[in-house]
Amino acid sequence: MTAPILRVRELHAGYGSIRVLHGIDFEVEDGEIVALLGANGAGKTTTLRALSGMIAAKGSIALDGKDVIALDASERTQRGIAHIPQGRGTFVDFTVEENLALGAYRMRDKRAIRSALDYWYGIFPWLAERRAQPAGSLSGGEQQMLAVARALMVEPRILMCDEPSLGLAPAITQSLFALLERLNKERGMAILLVEQNARLTLKITHRAYVIESGEIRLSGAAAELRDNPLIQRAYLGT
Ligand SMILES: Nc1ncnc2c1ncn2[C@@H]1O[C@H](COP(=O)(O)OP(=O)(O)OP(=O)(O)O)[C@@H](O)[C@H]1O
Ligand SMILES: [Mg+2]
Repeated sequence: MTAPILRVRELHAGYGSIRVLHGIDFEVEDGEIVALLGANGAGKTTTLRALSGMIAAKGSIALDGKDVIALDASERTQRGIAHIPQGRGTFVDFTVEENLALGAYRMRDKRAIRSALDYWYGIFPWLAERRAQPAGSLSGGEQQMLAVARALMVEPRILMCDEPSLGLAPAITQSLFALLERLNKERGMAILLVEQNARLTLKITHRAYVIESGEIRLSGAAAELRDNPLIQRAYLGT
């Protein structure tokens, strides 16, 4: 069996003396979309920050079987961990194209950047149409999709999105989720999705973990979790 893309064991992290994650374990297999669900303050954002190297962590984070815990954030990005932080993270005064090019900052070769841009413009023609527009003039949903496209410029091994639906209207959220689903189906992109919108999330994900007070409380196939009364009560409002 091949190693999972991401295998996390005994992950501990926090902020100074505040301990937030108390030894969490999970994995994302090749070609999977996995959700991390949980209430406000459960530790979802902290988990993604610990994985991408924004904050210090203890434990093991194996990417394609190799532990990256000792690497800094930019080295982890180079290994293929892409992190779209909570909030949109686009540079509003920069154009769409400048934002995309920033995503490819570690490609030195101008032609490689050009061909990556052309490739993603082919996939997202609406981005090409808006390439010269400041990112701040895009709608919230478009900015979120730009953030996804920017993260894809370097062909990550795993795409981690932190509450991409925050502040978006339901219809826009649906098209954003359709984009994630398409990237997964057509390109086999492994995705770790942090969301509070459990209903929609469990429709597009293969498996999910529920995090509570910095610990994994529950995990399983998305279809199983949808039928779990605990999940229904806590996250699906039924
Ligand atoms: N920079 C920080 N300094 C100190 N404590 C923090 C910091 N960021 C988060 N925390 C604390 O860590 C805990 C987990 O926060 P985290 O942001 O990971 O939660 P979350 O699950 O992403 O919640 P939400 O759904 O509201 O985004 C919370 O108690 C929070 O107050
Ligand atoms: Mg959060």
